[in-house]
Amino acid sequence: MLKTVKAPLRPLKGEIVIPSDKSISHRAVMFSSLAEGECIVRNFSSGADCHSTLNLFKALGVEIDFIDSKTLKIKGCGGKFAPAKFTPAIYTYSCGNSGTTMRLVSGILAGQNFNSVLTGDESLSKRPMRRIIEPLSLMGADISSVDAHAPLTIRGKKLHGITYSSKLASAQVKSCILLAGLNAEGETVFEEPYLSRNHTENLFNYLGADIKIQGAKVTVKPSVLKAKDIDIAGDISSAAFFIVAGLIVKGSDFVIKNVGINPTRAGIIDIVKRMGGDIEILNLRQVSGEDVADIRVKYTEGLKACTIAGADIPRLIDELPVIAVLASQAEGDTIVKNAGDLRNKESDRIKCLVDELSKTGVSMEELEDGFIVHGNTELSGGCELESYHDHRLAMSFYVAGLVCRKEISINGFEWTNISFPEFETLFGKLNS
Ligand code: S3P
Repeated sequence: MLKTVKAPLRPLKGEIVIPSDKSISHRAVMFSSLAEGECIVRNFSSGADCHSTLNLFKALGVEIDFIDSKTLKIKGCGGKFAPAKFTPAIYTYSCGNSGTTMRLVSGILAGQNFNSVLTGDESLSKRPMRRIIEPLSLMGADISSVDAHAPLTIRGKKLHGITYSSKLASAQVKSCILLAGLNAEGETVFEEPYLSRNHTENLFNYLGADIKIQGAKVTVKPSVLKAKDIDIAGDISSAAFFIVAGLIVKGSDFVIKNVGINPTRAGIIDIVKRMGGDIEILNLRQVSGEDVADIRVKYTEGLKACTIAGADIPRLIDELPVIAVLASQAEGDTIVKNAGDLRNKESDRIKCLVDELSKTGVSMEELEDGFIVHGNTELSGGCELESYHDHRLAMSFYVAGLVCRKEISINGFEWTNISFPEFETLFGKLNS
């Protein structure tokens, strides 16, 4: 689907409620399915990725019912003292486009007493799986793959705990190993170079797992999770598109409600402050173990470039494409380094971003592990951009279109449904 975007005639004003966090939605279904007892999950994501997880657990025999379009009732398969007993109807599960589904579920299936196969769409089948196959194999897992890519054939085995030092700060790898550790013999220790998003640790704590956290090191012992109702906050990765739009569309001033601002995810807020953006955190509260707030954002003149590297990266990895759009409107050179894993996302998010944004007039350079944006550029637009089947690229390009002189078109805009089907409707709300 080709979407045309042009600069709004008026500033963006009003109030929107950001829909459910994708990372927490995946985990809420997975962990409640593993747990002992029944629970309600509220504000479940409408994105296709989270529905891949939901359908997979239904196929594993978990009773999951919709109370309404965003509320689920889940009857966990965990026993009082024993790990979850699934009763699969089939043994091949499709993860669609979702890396989180494939990587986390591998950690669950590796320790079951049955065999299974995980498949993915074209993009997911190109994404690296060695990062989970290697540590799971050290735990005793038996996984075959196509040169460390999906489809993954997992022969269920009794696993044992390991102490693993990961070269990569990755919440997907960490969560996979912690999930395997729940059902392994002995304790499992996972350490990463920088702390990645900690939703798994928060939810494990909330659901009573035996878990110890020391900075970027987590230890988990075999545990049965106890079902508890889960309320899912709004997704800061979705809010990011609105934050950037508010800062760069002249005269804008609006409030984004119900945004999860877990410090391991809220890197974009720090970067906006570093760049001098007018952003305000209101009504800070806790929801199911996570920090949640409303965010007021205002158009800001005189934004300044900054350097984004090291420990910043895992805290805003998914926001880097839209941060590039923000940087194009800031004074100076914004440098993004140590973000090489961006090349392994739904697309090569360094190359595709640089190639496509450059067409609009953004002055950018590709680095091996990041990019440089030369700021303060008036974007000419008047071009067609390719989204490469990547939801976050499609939405970042839409935001760039809001400050282009001539309208742009984005090819493959329907991929926004992967994480954020409400995206355009919410933009319409601020622009009416
Ligand atoms: C996610 C972790 C991140 C992120 C992805 C969701 C998660 O991936 O990019 O969109 O829910 O754990 P990595 O762990 O590969 O960095």
